[in-house]
Amino acid sequence: MCGIVGYIGYREAYPVLINGLKRLEYRGYDSAGIALLDNEPAIFKCVGKVSDLENHINDNPKTGHVGIGHTRWATHGEPNDVNAHPHQSMHGKFILIHNGIIENYTELKEKLGNRGYTFNSQTDSEVLVNLIEFIYQKGKVDAEMAVRLALNKVEGAYGIVVMCADEPDKLIAARKGSPLVIGVGNDEYFLASDATPIVEYTKSVIYLNDQNVAVITQGELVLKTLKNIPLTPNIQQLSMDIGEIDKGGYDHFMLKEIFEQPRSIHDTFRGRINLAERTLHLGGLYHVMPKIVEAKRIIIIGCGTSWHAGLVGEYLFEDLARISVEVEYASEFRYRRPIISKGDVVIAISQSGETADTLAAIRLAKEAGALVLGICNVVGSSIPRETDGGVYTHAGPEIGVASTKAFTAQVTVLAMMAIQVGRKRNFLTDDQYQRYIQELTQVPEKIEKILKLDSTIHKLAEKYKDVNNFLYLGRGYLFPVALEGALKLKEISYIHAEGYPAAEMKHGPIALIDHHMPVVVLATKDHSYDKIVSNIQEVKARKGIIIAVVSEGDTTITGLANHTIEIPETEMVFSPLLAVIPLQLLSYHIAIMRGCNVDQPRNLAKSVTVE
Ligand code: G6P
Repeated sequence: MCGIVGYIGYREAYPVLINGLKRLEYRGYDSAGIALLDNEPAIFKCVGKVSDLENHINDNPKTGHVGIGHTRWATHGEPNDVNAHPHQSMHGKFILIHNGIIENYTELKEKLGNRGYTFNSQTDSEVLVNLIEFIYQKGKVDAEMAVRLALNKVEGAYGIVVMCADEPDKLIAARKGSPLVIGVGNDEYFLASDATPIVEYTKSVIYLNDQNVAVITQGELVLKTLKNIPLTPNIQQLSMDIGEIDKGGYDHFMLKEIFEQPRSIHDTFRGRINLAERTLHLGGLYHVMPKIVEAKRIIIIGCGTSWHAGLVGEYLFEDLARISVEVEYASEFRYRRPIISKGDVVIAISQSGETADTLAAIRLAKEAGALVLGICNVVGSSIPRETDGGVYTHAGPEIGVASTKAFTAQVTVLAMMAIQVGRKRNFLTDDQYQRYIQELTQVPEKIEKILKLDSTIHKLAEKYKDVNNFLYLGRGYLFPVALEGALKLKEISYIHAEGYPAAEMKHGPIALIDHHMPVVVLATKDHSYDKIVSNIQEVKARKGIIIAVVSEGDTTITGLANHTIEIPETEMVFSPLLAVIPLQLLSYHIAIMRGCNVDQPRNLAKSVTVE
């Protein structure tokens, strides 16, 4: 989390930086700041969003062709003006922006304190900039060497960009654990936490690797390791388009991304499904497929919504491919001394490809000898670069902090994988295999149909926008969707919501049900339909308000529920792709009616690069 940008070239840096920060604001929005180096350094920063920063600096001069900017998700120190980045060293020589956490900052701070350093902020980042300055002045080395030597003393994660007042035509960037991309233009360079601030200027990018340092002067880039070993930059071409990161006429990114799902799911299977032959081809798994087919166990790891997609994956792989699956929170998995064997296949699911816990978990699994695969959305991000194989989701940039289209794209990939592995393991006949492939291609059209229910769901939202609690229930494939529906509601509307397996309701949540409690029940026609009808009866007997998502034409539940949302029928294995859509819309409308910022919910960030 935290977004960082930098610019060096012939343009005025300020507009590049401020626009870049707006694109990166999904990574954190507690405070924002910019520093420009035009003979003298000028630093502007304040608590709040990038727009607050813009208002704050409106009347001040803001010229310079070299500059850095930061949007913060607070870790050390509360969000306020002083803790905002950029941070300047005590004697004014260095200015730094930082994404990550310096874990040994207390120890370093104490040592610097003993040498006369004082600190304005409570941040770990201010310690790092002072350490760089201390080494620079004491060791009489140049700025680049001071940065490298300081980073050798640091434990933790960082993506940093540094400016030195004595070497004004230079930016020094480095990364370990936190992402950093360099855009290469004609006689100009752009730096950012991801490619979205860069794509409007150039499509040529370099993804910095861990422990790499880039020294950029006007017109020249030198890449090396922390130990000063020169590296050849690997310039890659972005496939992202600038239009993909605009709101495209929608009021919010989240709404746009909900409505994009027919296309994003289609993009995810396009090129991988041959409809004429009804076959599937997953290029990123081709070389590892024999190992997956032989796997004794699959371990799926992820966080947040990606973890929910992983739970759907568990049903898919066990059902279609008959492989035992465990789904793990990355943060728990990595610290639990997990038992991982060589025959295990570990699948990491991550929209951003940068989540710190997920990244650490795959490193652990790799060390233990497992085959490690990734299902990620951001091309070139850390997880796909560190896995043995994988499948990109092709959902396009997801900017809304609450994940929507990434979830359905992840489930689409998991479904394709399970179908493919199931066929190869002979648990699916040719007929079943082809039927599933055929039905998957129908999903986008069915989602289009569900999206037409938007105004109905809007009315429902009006009715329940002021309640304090919501319960979501589902069974089988729809249990993870219940969890995801509850997460969507709580993260953007701040209403307390819980997801439960419908049968588990009897073991606790039923005590909460009264005539104030809306209960969203996912009750489409599948093999547990009768059971879920019984669960609905149980809620009704306690006067709970039933909002049921049912299959088109359902009459039984329509007679019982207070409200029904009818969705098209599909194969049970794809039901999560359809059932989640009304829940996303319900959360969105409720949050808007409550005056919440749906794209940037409080305290959250999209890319969690700290533990
Ligand atoms: C944050 C985001 C969630 C996301 C989770 C995992 O909490 O707000 O939307 O699901 O991180 O992120 P990843 O990029 O690994 O999918």
